[in-house]
Amino acid sequence: MKFYSNCTAGHYTIMCKSFSATLYNLSCGQYEYIVVEKRGENKNVGFIQLNRPKALNALCDGLMTEMGKALDAFEADGDVGAIVITGSERAFAAGADIKEMQNRTFQENYSGNFLAHWNRVSTVRKPVIAAVNGFALGGGCELAMMCDIIYAGEKAQFGQPEILLGTIPGAGGTQRLTRAVGKSLAMELVLTGDRIGAQEAKQSGLVSKVFPADQLVSEAIKCGEKIASNSKLISAMAKEAVNAAFELTLAEGNRLEKRLFHATFATDDRKEGMTAFVEKRKASFQDK
Ligand code: HXC
Repeated sequence: MKFYSNCTAGHYTIMCKSFSATLYNLSCGQYEYIVVEKRGENKNVGFIQLNRPKALNALCDGLMTEMGKALDAFEADGDVGAIVITGSERAFAAGADIKEMQNRTFQENYSGNFLAHWNRVSTVRKPVIAAVNGFALGGGCELAMMCDIIYAGEKAQFGQPEILLGTIPGAGGTQRLTRAVGKSLAMELVLTGDRIGAQEAKQSGLVSKVFPADQLVSEAIKCGEKIASNSKLISAMAKEAVNAAFELTLAEGNRLEKRLFHATFATDDRKEGMTAFVEKRKASFQDK
């Protein structure tokens, strides 16, 4: 399967050379709930904008299914070196779709493994940046935390208000928030449903940078371009190593890091990077 990509009418379209029906249909349909483009000077940053403004980008099943398809397409696109996920100035996402969940039963959730496909965001190998303006609540906060880097607009608000609905976070909120901000603040947010603003989110380590709302997306794209200018192969190894810190003991994590560090010496890009430094020129990585 070979993919050809281009940007037309603001939408990312994939033309497939072979007509492998399933993949073609998955990749080529128009998106209803998201806008998908390639951004940056070299069109090497995948850009996904949640687009359900009337529902404050509530994460309905269709939206998350489309998100998975868009991520698959960017993952397969050799030009794309980083991905940005954003919403609108009013809302990144106000959570999972409460109206869709209202009448669900335990049996449906369990037998259908409800929300399992949300994990696609956290299994992407390319670096993903969340650019959060406005509300990032419940599943919206969890979606942002599945990304590798969170940038926030000055008026962003983060929270896990599921307790107010008689439920608890179900897409990693209790785990990722606790690792990001520590037990006391995570407990407070999860148990009260209170929200924190961008500055508090930055102070507590949930987000790395805060920008005026109207500059947020362009700053996230700039960060994506910076990442995309490095070797995609090595970036994937770096991401794998940092993520291991959340799952392994220190000894195991350090061992994995050492193996991956050694492995970079099997790549052309490691050789090019060090040679370019010695020759006082900019490295030209080939992702090999
Ligand atoms: C469905 C939602 C929604 C949601 C907002 N809307 N959030 N629809 N699911 N999560 C809809 C409203 O019903 C309304 O549509 C429209 O968006 C605008 O919302 P308002 O409430 O009128 O806006 P406002 O007064 O500005 O309040 C904004 C808000 C509030 C504070 C964000 O909407 C709110 O509290 N939303 C719910 C936040 C939440 O509890 N999130 C966690 C969801 S549970 P209509 O057509 O009715 O006017 C969750 C579980 C995660 O995420 C588990 C794993 C994924």
